[in-house]
Amino acid sequence: ASNGHRTAFVDNDRKPTGHGRMLRKEDPRFVRGKGRYVDDLQLPGMLHLAILRSPLAHARVLSVDTTLAEAHPKVRLVVTGAMLAEKGLAWMPTLSNDVQAVLATDKVRFQGQEVAFVVAEDRYSARDALELIDVEYEALDPVIDVRTALSPDAPVIRDDLEGKSDNHCFDWETGDAAETDAVFARADVVVSEDIVYPRVHPAPMETCGAVADYDAVDGKLTLWSTTQAPHAHRTLYALVAGLPEHKIRVVSPDIGGGFGNKVPIYPGYVCAIVGSLLTGKPVKWMEDRAENLISTGFARDYVMRGEIAATRDGKILAIRTNVLADHGAFNGTAAPVKYPAGFFGVFTGSYDLEAAHCKMTAVYTNKAPGGVAYACSFRITEAVYLVERIVNCLAFELDMDPVELRMKNFIRPEQFPYRTKTGWVYDSGNYAPTMELAKQLAGYDELRAEQAEKRVRGELMGIGVSFFTEAVGAGPRKDMDILGLGMADGCELRVHPTGKAVVRLSVQTQGQGHETTFAQIVAEELGIPPQDIEVVHGDTDQTPFGLGTYGSRSTPVSGAAAALVARKVRDKAKLIASGMLEVSVADLEWEKGSFRVAGDPNASVTIQDIAMRAHGAGDLPEGVEGGLEAQICYNPENLTYPHGAYICVVDIDPGTAKVTVRRFVAVDDCGTRINPMIIEGQVHGGLTDGVGMALMEMIAFDEDGNCLSGSLMDYLIPTALEVPDWETGFTVTPSPHHPIGAKGVGESATVGSPPAIVNAVVDALAPFGIRHADMPLTPSRVWEAMQGRPVPP
Ligand code: CDP
Repeated sequence: ASNGHRTAFVDNDRKPTGHGRMLRKEDPRFVRGKGRYVDDLQLPGMLHLAILRSPLAHARVLSVDTTLAEAHPKVRLVVTGAMLAEKGLAWMPTLSNDVQAVLATDKVRFQGQEVAFVVAEDRYSARDALELIDVEYEALDPVIDVRTALSPDAPVIRDDLEGKSDNHCFDWETGDAAETDAVFARADVVVSEDIVYPRVHPAPMETCGAVADYDAVDGKLTLWSTTQAPHAHRTLYALVAGLPEHKIRVVSPDIGGGFGNKVPIYPGYVCAIVGSLLTGKPVKWMEDRAENLISTGFARDYVMRGEIAATRDGKILAIRTNVLADHGAFNGTAAPVKYPAGFFGVFTGSYDLEAAHCKMTAVYTNKAPGGVAYACSFRITEAVYLVERIVNCLAFELDMDPVELRMKNFIRPEQFPYRTKTGWVYDSGNYAPTMELAKQLAGYDELRAEQAEKRVRGELMGIGVSFFTEAVGAGPRKDMDILGLGMADGCELRVHPTGKAVVRLSVQTQGQGHETTFAQIVAEELGIPPQDIEVVHGDTDQTPFGLGTYGSRSTPVSGAAAALVARKVRDKAKLIASGMLEVSVADLEWEKGSFRVAGDPNASVTIQDIAMRAHGAGDLPEGVEGGLEAQICYNPENLTYPHGAYICVVDIDPGTAKVTVRRFVAVDDCGTRINPMIIEGQVHGGLTDGVGMALMEMIAFDEDGNCLSGSLMDYLIPTALEVPDWETGFTVTPSPHHPIGAKGVGESATVGSPPAIVNAVVDALAPFGIRHADMPLTPSRVWEAMQGRPVPP
């Protein structure tokens, strides 16, 4: 395949037996509107749950009077924090070793926090009854600004934690401070910039929800829920409820987008479970859009000081950064235990440095909990934004072309595996050809010439570049666990007598096309057509244990598991084939889909023949059991490190300051590509996300802690109107440790695109002397940036 320019074609005629373009197996269901989402579930006698939320960001709860709500004719149950406290269920663990209130008992700590819930015969009555609950609050001063959260006079938000006397959440540090300071001290040029990655929200199309169904006869709880990690959630419920895992079934049916929003355990899930336990009926809870935006896992919210040291001719020597991280009222981040700041440690980017250092302070504020990895691998988006912005600031100061500056500092191909100054081992990479291809697809030199011409006329055109390296595919389990659960993935494969197969995964798709790509991985290994391979996932009763889908970890971890389990089946098939062909195993050669006798092209058996023999009459070789199946738990050796080069072209209307993204070129390298069509879809989606974050999206608060972004009228997400035709290309640098050389890609574009867009906007504003402006670059922010600055010629 050639590197694609506008690669949006679909080769319908090709019927691959492995990797390659192939239409998605799940789409006939989705395009007919036949997806099965949590809210589609209707169970006999099902009741509906609604949650009363706090109108205040910080207040003492003095009393909760539920008398009138209980008298509502259709209400079956009203539950308050005090009632949950009696059962020891008022607080639950978060996925980052904090605790979070299921329903408030003592205080409310953010606007939208859960205070009580109602279970009624229908959704409307449940909502109506919320208005009949009378809560008396005593307002407290809210802590909204992360910069003042640690001042001695700030009210203490988390007074539920023993001995807590301030709003400090955690400190984290990486790299070598002394070494970095020494390099900075001798550098020719030091550039520093304050850079804010604002609070944004994943805002999946489907909001969060659950249906809980407790069967008192066999003591089994079934929870259909919008979760990206069904097995991890089940174990947590088991620990909290004191039930064995096999008495809890978590089902994640079709999911309308996750993007990290569906990783945490939300109070609503627990309320639905309690509702079903207490009523003996199935109970459905489904958020509305405002609830999703104001109360569920936000992302980013980092205030960063970035500093870069270099020689005068543009050799980057060191990067250091100081970060203030806003974690909201409860630390609801889902990050591996040893990585409270996620994978922010990769802030050294794609460059070969002498030293690096980061110091981070995380604080509590009166805002919704979260810090989720919104379409990224645990804070990599923030890291990539920091480095790609600060490198551009350096280019600005040195008056150097930003592509040239990057090229000069790339880690060279012969340096891989490359250990960064913050301890990450990049598995493989070949950066210059990826950057060159992006330049070529964009027509970079011509664009610069066009820009020079336009600047003379006072027109504002900008060209932005970013180059990223991501770290995706968490484990290995010795380094990475979530609440003690190691980040490894199980996979099972069964080949039926007729040669059709079922592969059972521990990961769960939320629209990424796993039903297709995992069938393709197995197809490539066994030569069974992907159409004959059924992918089963998202149901803890039907799939092996594993940590779930987030941080683009499905292909790096479960994709490896799927390839290896297929190879295990192939090894057994080989033994059976040797018996069928009456030759020794050493004389057999594998040709996709069949074993044949070396040197005798007519003597062969297909995988389907072998499957029938494995289950049928006829002898099997000595010591070989019947059946053709295998299972595996794959513990990755390392993360995979995809990379990419992005170039964005923007035009700014000098009269209105409105930014138009005119062109966007994205060249991605995710190693071996399983389904290029799906990869392009993932990239297109991520780039669209990037336009949203760079230009439109922000969860904002007023000084009282009122969330100002509780609807899609206020929280703007991009549509087809705001984005250009994406132009994609690719290079292929396989991962050396992944069995098929694949790296993750699902989130690359969300990670790589915001800095390219911001770099383009800032580049357009260069005639005003502007070196940096913070996202989202709305017309009013761009306008403000333009005021009081030198006017372009
Ligand atoms: O974990 P998540 O599925 O969100 O991310 P991913 O592993 O990067 O995969 C996203 C989609 O792209 C899946 O359908 C993958 O199988 C597919 N993909 C691919 O076809 N080739 C790759 N090298 C990486 C991902």
